[in-house]
Amino acid sequence: MLKINNLHASVEDKGILKGINLEVKAGEVHAIMGPNGSGKSTLASVIAGKEEYEVTDGNIIFEGEDIEELAAEERAHKGVFLSFQYPVEIPGVSVTNFIKTAINESRKAKGLGDMPAKDMLKLIREKADLLEMDRKFLSRSLNEGFSGGEKKRNEIFQMAMLEPKLAILDETDSGLDIDALRIVANGVNKLKSKDNAVVVITHYQRLLDYIVPDFVHVLYNGKIVKSGGKELAHELEEKGYDWIKEEVNA
Ligand SMILES: Nc1ncnc2c1ncn2[C@@H]1O[C@H](COP(=O)(O)OP(=O)(O)OP(=O)(O)O)[C@@H](O)[C@H]1O
Ligand SMILES: [Mg+2]
Repeated sequence: MLKINNLHASVEDKGILKGINLEVKAGEVHAIMGPNGSGKSTLASVIAGKEEYEVTDGNIIFEGEDIEELAAEERAHKGVFLSFQYPVEIPGVSVTNFIKTAINESRKAKGLGDMPAKDMLKLIREKADLLEMDRKFLSRSLNEGFSGGEKKRNEIFQMAMLEPKLAILDETDSGLDIDALRIVANGVNKLKSKDNAVVVITHYQRLLDYIVPDFVHVLYNGKIVKSGGKELAHELEEKGYDWIKEEVNA
């Protein structure tokens, strides 16, 4: 599904990613961990196609196609979803109306007409229930006055509605209380299938108790310096990153 080869990327002429290699196959869950500033969010942004990042070498192949020249919006229409992609506050536009527009735009890009209102309503209710969301929340203005946890839950709701092929969740656990964490993780698990893939970026092993990864990668100084199974996350929780830094610098 996703194949990243020797990816180098910079922002404001500063090299951040320094040769990332990563392959994510359909049906897999990958976790990316690593110290602050190592490039995790940058990697997510580069995959999603945010404009401020420049790819200076290597490539990103999504579903067999080099997506470098595609705008973020086109990538989204092809099924790439990044949490935090729509953090804007839009007073007067409800959570529901925002997602309706997003869905119909993605259908338009595929040459389809608008989703019939009845189907849309049914889908919205189904996904809101899946994430145990209060119906009242759906009519609130997008992100306006949302608490950190509400923002995160709204992101997962957007993901549930859009059903992306590849979902990249950047620190979805930060700001969620224990119950919300469980609900959101269960939502992600229920949406998992053999046809889609999830990349979770997290600092804590805790989230990975709920969303169990097939692979864990450690990003350090713009490179993936170690990969393993879910036990690697436990090892990191226990030992921190120093041993990895020592290995790299040895
Ligand atoms: N838009 C930007 N402008 C300037 N510097 C940036 C920008 N985006 C990222 N960087 C720099 O790139 C480096 C990597 O940042 P990034 O956000 O990818 O780290 P991270 O691994 O996600 O860290 P954290 O764990 O703290 O979220 C940092 O030094 C950061 O300051
Ligand atoms: Mg980050």
